[in-house]
Amino acid sequence: MTERTTSAPPTDAATTVPPRTEPPANAPTPVAAETAPLYGQRLSRRVTIRDLQLAKRRGDRWPMLTSYDMYSAEIFDEAGVPVLLVGDSAANNVYGYEDTIPVTVDELLPLARAVVRATRRALVVGDLPFGSYQLGPDQALVTSIRFMKEAGVQAVKLEGGHRVVPAVRQIVEAGIPVMAHVGFTPQSVHAFGGYRVQGRGEAAERVREEALALQEAGAFAVVLEMVPATVARDVTAALTIPTIGIGAGPGCDAQVLVWQDMAGLRAGRLPRFVKTYADLRGELARAARAFAEEVGQGRYPGPEHSYE
Ligand code: KIV
Repeated sequence: MTERTTSAPPTDAATTVPPRTEPPANAPTPVAAETAPLYGQRLSRRVTIRDLQLAKRRGDRWPMLTSYDMYSAEIFDEAGVPVLLVGDSAANNVYGYEDTIPVTVDELLPLARAVVRATRRALVVGDLPFGSYQLGPDQALVTSIRFMKEAGVQAVKLEGGHRVVPAVRQIVEAGIPVMAHVGFTPQSVHAFGGYRVQGRGEAAERVREEALALQEAGAFAVVLEMVPATVARDVTAALTIPTIGIGAGPGCDAQVLVWQDMAGLRAGRLPRFVKTYADLRGELARAARAFAEEVGQGRYPGPEHSYE
């Protein structure tokens, strides 16, 4: 054992090695965050709205998923999904409501908190539920502040066009990034007379004007839901902020799906725009049946699952 001969603290290896000017020969070529594609980039920090702006300039496409709990958030974060939305779609995908209208801020905040805690990299967006911003810019700002302070999200989302422009402006001026949402906006399902494509024919111009007004108010991105693909493509070309499509065709900068739809957890008829990438419902049902059968037959727990 080497004895210390002075009272000086042991030198830290990092301080004795001269700063490296050249990377070691076998080091992977560093990719500047400015130039690397957003999806698949393994940032050691959270994605920011600036990363999304740079992606738009480069023409990168990126995915967004909803998430409402720790495990899905952790998995999507590790899979490299750069933006996670704690959607008010938790209403019908977590809480069992018929549509998104009944869900409250108090029901969404704990879900958003879990998603933030479980992620290191994804930008987490909290969705303002129906009734939490419709009274005007002040109510919208108060609700957004609750999402920032009580859940730790990095941005908020709200639905609507010209009607919400003053609210978007006020939230953005307070330093909170806002994602907008036009086209079919589920909180207005009754006003639309059901789940119907918006922006067909002459209404296309309105979608475009709303998106431009929201960009001008400071929104950092805009969701285009259930609008014709040609309209979404034109809006995407007209905007300098990213568009995120759901049922809006391939011409958007990004695409979003509700994760339970994407992974095949939801039963019943799915909207036309959903593509299912797994059969989680079938897999979970198989696991539950196997567990039930083994318990019934006395095969679980075995000796390897029991304590001496
Ligand atoms: O709440 C939600 O899930 C959404 C997305 C589908 C855009 O608003």
